Amino acid sequence: MTTRIRTAIIAGNWKMHYGPEQAANFAGEIVPELGQLVSQHGGIMCILCPPAISLAAVRKVLDTHPVSRLELGAQNMYFEEMGAFTGEISPTMVREWCSTVILGHSERRSYFGETDELVNKKAQAALHHGLRPIICIGERLEQYEAGETEQVIRSQVQHSLANFSEHQVHNVVVAYEPIWAIGTGKAATADGAEKVIALIRQLFGDMYGGEAATALRILYGGSVTSANISEFMALADIDGALVGGASIKHDFVEIVRNSITTITM
Ligand code: PGA
Repeated sequence: MTTRIRTAIIAGNWKMHYGPEQAANFAGEIVPELGQLVSQHGGIMCILCPPAISLAAVRKVLDTHPVSRLELGAQNMYFEEMGAFTGEISPTMVREWCSTVILGHSERRSYFGETDELVNKKAQAALHHGLRPIICIGERLEQYEAGETEQVIRSQVQHSLANFSEHQVHNVVVAYEPIWAIGTGKAATADGAEKVIALIRQLFGDMYGGEAATALRILYGGSVTSANISEFMALADIDGALVGGASIKHDFVEIVRNSITTITM
């Protein structure tokens, strides 16, 4: 049996799929099974991240199956608490329903111009309000092909993960998502992902010390399915997955099931 020192996380990023009605239907399909799975194994947590407008609908479904470690997350938020920020949602709003918020996803960075500095401000606000940020980092295809992965990751870690306070840092989760692997069906190899994840842990240790680095959860993301999740979960340094495309299908339940099988092997 792999000895794991950190609770694994399987998070589903539904992206811009499922309005309130469809979200409630889909959650109704998967939540009973997910609840059963996570309640049978204490070492895993599962987080559903629907679009903001569907959070209430999914919250309702989760409330009818209250299971600890089956949680709700937002896909983004702004760092201010309130004010004239049309179209945005704040940490306090997210906190009413969610434990978690995904921040700095590569789609936010590339389509909506989010920088490391903005992502860092959002992460600090999330921590300040007791939310668990899942902070995404990862290199683009041309950077990967040019052998620049280490350099890109180093800079993203140093800027996106800066200035966390000592008592909040344990709540940080990082998702390593090589952009060339997102939505392409071409996942990184488990070994390749593990190498970058080890680098992230080392860099985090340089910033916050060995204890914080040991506690840091680092997920892999990019074309994860029920067919390849076990390869990632078999490696002790990979603490779970951020799942996109496969999280809006029943395959998500199989991903969680296979993760549990792998970590209990
Ligand atoms: P994918 O997306 O699983 O569809 O590749 C992952 C992500 O964007 O988080």
